[in-house]
Amino acid sequence: MEFKTIIEPFRIRQVQPIHSTTREERIKALEIAGNNVFRLRAAKVLIDLLTDSGTGALSSEQWAGMVRSDESYAGADSYYRFEEAVKDITGFKHVVPTHQGRAAERILFGAAVHEGDVVPNNTHFDTTRANIESRGAAAIDIPVPIAADTQSLLPFKGNMDLDELKSILDQWPDKVPMVMMTITNNSNGGQPVSLENMRAASELCRERGVPFFIDACRFAENSWFIKIREEGNEDRTAIEIAREIFSLADGATMSAKKDGMANMGGFLALNDDALAEKCRNMLILTEGFPTYGGLAGYDLESVAIGLYEALQEDYLAYRIRTVAYVGERLTDSGIPILQPPGGHAIYLDAKAWLGHIPQEQFPGWALVNTLYIEGGIRASEIGSVMFGQQPDGVEKLSDKELVRLAFPRRVYTQSHIDYVVEVLRYIDTIKESIKGVRITKQPPALRHFTAEFEVV
Ligand code: F0G
Repeated sequence: MEFKTIIEPFRIRQVQPIHSTTREERIKALEIAGNNVFRLRAAKVLIDLLTDSGTGALSSEQWAGMVRSDESYAGADSYYRFEEAVKDITGFKHVVPTHQGRAAERILFGAAVHEGDVVPNNTHFDTTRANIESRGAAAIDIPVPIAADTQSLLPFKGNMDLDELKSILDQWPDKVPMVMMTITNNSNGGQPVSLENMRAASELCRERGVPFFIDACRFAENSWFIKIREEGNEDRTAIEIAREIFSLADGATMSAKKDGMANMGGFLALNDDALAEKCRNMLILTEGFPTYGGLAGYDLESVAIGLYEALQEDYLAYRIRTVAYVGERLTDSGIPILQPPGGHAIYLDAKAWLGHIPQEQFPGWALVNTLYIEGGIRASEIGSVMFGQQPDGVEKLSDKELVRLAFPRRVYTQSHIDYVVEVLRYIDTIKESIKGVRITKQPPALRHFTAEFEVV
């Protein structure tokens, strides 16, 4: 008999209590936090879905590796185990450890991107965009047009628009230092990119002599989607698919806080000898010696082991199924989400759900605060608070008002997830009473982290 229930493929041998608070306590805590959940003390949160980055649970194998770590400043065994794992999975010649993804981005762009350059990407993540722009270059998003439709059910809505890519390469033949592909496409709903799309982008880049880089944060989840959704891949393993993805590229930046299953870590991996040397020299300046790059030996061990655990198929089946399960229940309840559910998160469509709140009053932010007050759940707004503030101070509404529920890896069980669904169903019954918010205090940039709000 083949049973259908997909179980958490682990048992829990160490637990950390989470504490309920009353609705009154949460109202007070949120008020003290300026109605901004980033400013809450985490102990006041029951289920924390703020991010899947660095928030996962380590395995006993990872802890064992961490206890064995070699903390030598230079040439530590832990580095060589890390390098071997990264090379085995990615096939790249040079491996540069960094403390997290954005450090890899800063070093790569610092070495290869110059003022006036143009860097296309299916969709840049905020830190990628900021690190390119800080070089005086333009970060251009070229997602496939269908990605704008939150309701279409296509399997690979993370894809890059290849016609756009071609026209950028035609228009600026000497201004594109690299093309990037983000897998999965976090800023576009955690949607995967197909192998076909990556092969075509890679071929185009090779024809034009332009390096092709992968932003590989969620490479294992993307590989799994290819296995289950893209014809011809159903009999391949996730690691085989991942190896093919990396073989299409000249290098990758990685935040190991996602599919590296670590609490901290990242890397830059690449084939170009001269560029690697330049990057290592920059690494020494701000991150550390090339065999640790700002990481402890135990971090390197945790990533070396975690990269393989992220590719284990029972884990991936459970991981992707958890997110789909939430998506199905919300859709059945008529709660609008970005479709189809992505790899690491559910994105609630606050503009559709809270139609009575004008966008100027930040419906996504209002929903985040309601989730906290009603259920002690912490989520993040991806809408006009995050994107509305332009460098010249002008306010520009975002085209989508989303709320991301990002799932930490191996942390919450099905009953935690059922609880989240129950809270959302309750919110659906009181949604008309939810009020918009206005900003009372904000910094000049990246305001969502620290701004303060009041209810309108
Ligand atoms: N690229 C993507 C696609 C990301 O999602 C992130 C981080 C980074 C790069 C930067 O990595 O945080 O290690 O420096 N995303 C987190 C998130 C913060 O919540 O989605 P980092």
